Amino acid sequence: MNEQAHKAITPEFLRSMSYPDFVALMKQDNTPPGSAYTVDYWIEHAGISNNSVLLDLACSTGYSSRYCFSKTSSSAEGIDISEIAISTAREKAAAMGAQDKLRYQVSDACSLPFSDDTFTHILGGCNFAFIQERSKALAEVARVLRPQGVICTSNFYYRKQPGQEIINSVYNAIGFRPDPDWTLKYWHDFFAREDLELYHEKNHELSSQPQEELKENLLRYVSAENEFTRELDETTQNAFYERYLAIREPLNDQRDYQGVTIQLWRKK
Ligand SMILES: C[S@@+](CC[C@H](N)C(=O)[O-])C[C@H]1O[C@@H](n2cnc3c(N)ncnc32)[C@H](O)[C@@H]1O
Repeated sequence: MNEQAHKAITPEFLRSMSYPDFVALMKQDNTPPGSAYTVDYWIEHAGISNNSVLLDLACSTGYSSRYCFSKTSSSAEGIDISEIAISTAREKAAAMGAQDKLRYQVSDACSLPFSDDTFTHILGGCNFAFIQERSKALAEVARVLRPQGVICTSNFYYRKQPGQEIINSVYNAIGFRPDPDWTLKYWHDFFAREDLELYHEKNHELSSQPQEELKENLLRYVSAENEFTRELDETTQNAFYERYLAIREPLNDQRDYQGVTIQLWRKK
C-alpha cells in the first residue's frame, strides 16, 4: 500500500470495513482460539506431519497452515471468502518462501473446489460459527476429507448464558451475531454426523482481561508489535487502534461467559 493509500485510512473507512477485511488489512495473524497452543495440540494429537495435506478452512490470513508448515513441512490449501484475507495469506506464504506448499484461494466453504477424499486434515479454527450455512460446509468438509482423516476444530462455546446486551454489543462491533445456544453440547451435536467420530477433546474456561490492560495491549500491538501498523503515522495508527478497541472490548466482555473447546473428529 502506498503513502497516498495510507492517507485514505480514516476512522470512518476502517469502521465501514467488515471484521474479516479489517483484520486482513492490518495483516494480523488471525489465530484460532488458543493460538499456538491449539495448533500444537492439533499437530500432536491428529498426527500432522510432512506427509499431511491440509485444508485451512475459512483461513483468514492463513496463520494455522503457516504454523503447521513451519513446524512439520506439511502442505496446505487455504480458502476464505474474503479477498483481502486471501491476498494477505499469499503475501505471508511468499515471505516465507513457501508459496509452492501453501496455496490460498477465494472460495465459499459451502462449495469447495476440491475432489472427494483429497485432504488428510481440515483445520477449522473458530470458523464454523462464522459460516452461515455451516451444516452445508461440514458436509463439504466430510466429502473432501480422506477416510481416517481428521477435522481439527477450536470453537468458543458459552458455559453461561450471556445477556442480550452482550450479544448486541458483539454484533455491533463485528457485524456478526453469536447465538447464545452455542454451548458445548451444540458443537458436539453439530459435528456428530454418522460419518464422523470424536476422538480427542480439551476444554478451557476463559475470563475477561481488565479493561486498562486490554487497552495497553492493543496500543502496544498497533504502535510497536504489528509490522504493518507500526510503520504508519500516528493519526492512522490511532484510527486502527480505535476500530480494534471497538472490536476487542465486547469480545473481551463475553469471555466471562465462554470456554474454548478443541476437538478432533475422525472420518470413519
Ligand atoms: C474468525 S475467522 C477464522 C480464522 C481462522 N480459521 C483461524 O483459525 O484463525 C472466520 C473466517 O471465516 C470466513 N468465512 C465466513 N464465511 C465463510 C464462507 N462461507 N466460506 C469461506 N470463508 C468464510 C471469514 O471471511 C473469516 O476470515
